[in-house]
Amino acid sequence: MGLTFDDFKGRIIRPDEIEKLFEINPNRKEYTQKLPDPWDHSYIIVEDVLVNPYDVKDFFIHASYIAGTNDLIPDKTGAPGMQQPVANEWVKSFILYLRQLLYDHKITRRDITWYDFNCYNNMFWKNMIAIDSNYRPHVDPGDFAFNLFLSDDLHEDEGTAVFAMNMPDGQKWIDIRDMERRSGIHPRMISQRMDQGRVGEGKLDNWRYFQGDDVYDYVCTVPGGFNCLSGYRGSLFHTAVYDPKNYSDDHVRYSFVAMLALTSPSSMKSSFLTKNPNKS
Ligand SMILES: [Fe+2]
Repeated sequence: MGLTFDDFKGRIIRPDEIEKLFEINPNRKEYTQKLPDPWDHSYIIVEDVLVNPYDVKDFFIHASYIAGTNDLIPDKTGAPGMQQPVANEWVKSFILYLRQLLYDHKITRRDITWYDFNCYNNMFWKNMIAIDSNYRPHVDPGDFAFNLFLSDDLHEDEGTAVFAMNMPDGQKWIDIRDMERRSGIHPRMISQRMDQGRVGEGKLDNWRYFQGDDVYDYVCTVPGGFNCLSGYRGSLFHTAVYDPKNYSDDHVRYSFVAMLALTSPSSMKSSFLTKNPNKS
């Protein structure tokens, strides 16, 4: 039996429709915010970024299967929650807006194309498990991370928490690339410090809201809220703020992530990189 257009009813979207779907709100509020002293880095926030955030949320939910989950693959290390792939073609106009943000706010002047981003949706839920304590801070395998929050019932404390790493010799660093370049500390020592307090590769425990310990000082939270876009350097020590105590049992936190990857990842191990390339 052959196929007809009827078999693809509702599954075809034209470029003008998709551009309209991701229309940027002319009344959005864009600003950069410096981290608290003594840290020089800034993050970027755009409030009310989309005209049609609920339509975008529905589009993503129905656009593809959710392909990665620590619950289904217990020995998988990596990002918390579940991940849903997003093709760059679907979000091209939005990616071009992200690039413009980087230029307009003088975050970078480097050449960037719309396929220099890796895109996916993150799905966190109240009772999700953690693997190798992946609620603890990590650094991203990309240069700059954008998050667009698509759940409309997030607690006001939600977002991305940023930390400074304490070394035993008294040094404190907020950014692993700066640390590797300027601290004189061997990347392996940094990696070992990041492993402190973790339960171990492949080991499970409950997800929780990490707020700092002997290794990490809490610095601030890059805010997140419905239809709010945040952006920060992936080399900052950071973790998602998702505090289970704020939510009912079936709650889901859904967010779109666009990771700009222009340079190769930092030489240290990232909890978002697979340690063994044969085990992905
Ligand atoms: Fe991250």
